[in-house]
Amino acid sequence: MGATGSIGRQTLDVLRSEPDSFNLVSVAAGTQIGKLCEIAAEFGVRRVGVTRPEDFVATRELLGDHVEVVVGGDGLADLAADADIVVNAVVGFAGLPVTMAALAAGRVLALANKESFIAAAPLVQRVRMTPGARVLPIDSEHCAIYQCLADSSPEPGHPDVRRLLLTASGGPFRGWSKVQLAAATTQEALRHPTWTMGPKITIDSSTLMNKGLEVLEASALFGIEANRISVVVHPQSIVHSMVEYVDGSVIAQLSQPDMRLPIAYCLGRPVRFDHSWGAMDFTTELTLSFEPPDLDAFAAIPLAYAAAQRGGAAPAWLSAANEVAVASCLHGEIRWADIVPVVATVMDGLDSAPLETLEDLIAHDELARRRARSAISAL
Ligand SMILES: NC(=O)c1ccc[n+]([C@@H]2O[C@H](COP(=O)([O-])OP(=O)(O)OC[C@H]3O[C@@H](n4cnc5c(N)ncnc54)[C@H](OP(=O)(O)O)[C@@H]3O)[C@@H](O)[C@H]2O)c1
Repeated sequence: MGATGSIGRQTLDVLRSEPDSFNLVSVAAGTQIGKLCEIAAEFGVRRVGVTRPEDFVATRELLGDHVEVVVGGDGLADLAADADIVVNAVVGFAGLPVTMAALAAGRVLALANKESFIAAAPLVQRVRMTPGARVLPIDSEHCAIYQCLADSSPEPGHPDVRRLLLTASGGPFRGWSKVQLAAATTQEALRHPTWTMGPKITIDSSTLMNKGLEVLEASALFGIEANRISVVVHPQSIVHSMVEYVDGSVIAQLSQPDMRLPIAYCLGRPVRFDHSWGAMDFTTELTLSFEPPDLDAFAAIPLAYAAAQRGGAAPAWLSAANEVAVASCLHGEIRWADIVPVVATVMDGLDSAPLETLEDLIAHDELARRRARSAISAL
């Protein structure tokens, strides 16, 4: 789901390289209908999901009667319930139906879509108890932690783990002062030093909101409180994250930055495919460096920790407000430097945070988005 995007396209690369291991049964995307139909034809899929009702007829005409076309969030949920492994590579809160439906149907969810997982964390914890349901993280940091936790205690909360160390490249503005950041442009923000990704996560990486969201994602995925998760800036993006155990041992996972590696790991598990994606060369000089993040200049990280501490709907508000602010920045309506202050303003207005039901979540998401739009209008 999200087949036309950065993670979607790299997932298709993995499938092309393992034609005997997988049968792609359905694909879905947002607006790139021509590209989606090309993918559907190449892989001979039986079912296709489109987001906008107005794309239904054109998609049917392009694909022919033998392919079923479904529409919108209900369509995504229908497709997600109907595959052994579901890759959620939709961007933003729109990925929610995929996560919820895949887990409710007891499927293996290969998760890239962090936003809906974070927003719906209290609901996801219930639905992931469905027999057969399993979440495997595609996000490289979380995939690394998943692998580094292999030897940890099966007890809830991993009591033998002292802390998770989430690595961050630092993004294009690493080392910039607050004064320099105030003048940063969206074009500069879109030039990530180590990863090529979709526009939303690239902007999130430049504000370090991506790392804040990943703290929340790691806490929800592994059942480890945010105060046992630290962010470490590692500009080379070779160490994808680490787990520090109570005896002082630190276990890390390393590779060159290539998302096909974590995608293939999730799809193949427990089999590791024989490929050289991300292969390391230790015959040449290699320097790995680590430094603390500048939490004063990059206020998104403290905002995320505060949301983790509040729990309930706070992570949903953080993610929704950020989504609105990033879209507004990408449309040229606000400056890059306005993104995090808009999110902070929205979070300041959060007074009650219970989140028990899907209806609560949708209401919180809509309210946070409205508040973010008001904060943007007020600029
Ligand atoms: N890219 C990475 O390396 C990376 C790494 C770690 C985690 N992630 C996470 O993976 C997710 C996807 O990121 P990305 O970089 O692949 O984003 P992207 O390149 O922007 O792709 C997003 C995909 O979602 C689809 N989409 C958008 N709105 C939709 C909707 N309402 N319903 C159904 N599909 C919709 C898009 O379709 P159209 O293009 O057809 O509109 C596209 O296929 C994000 O949550 C991101 O944080 C990405």
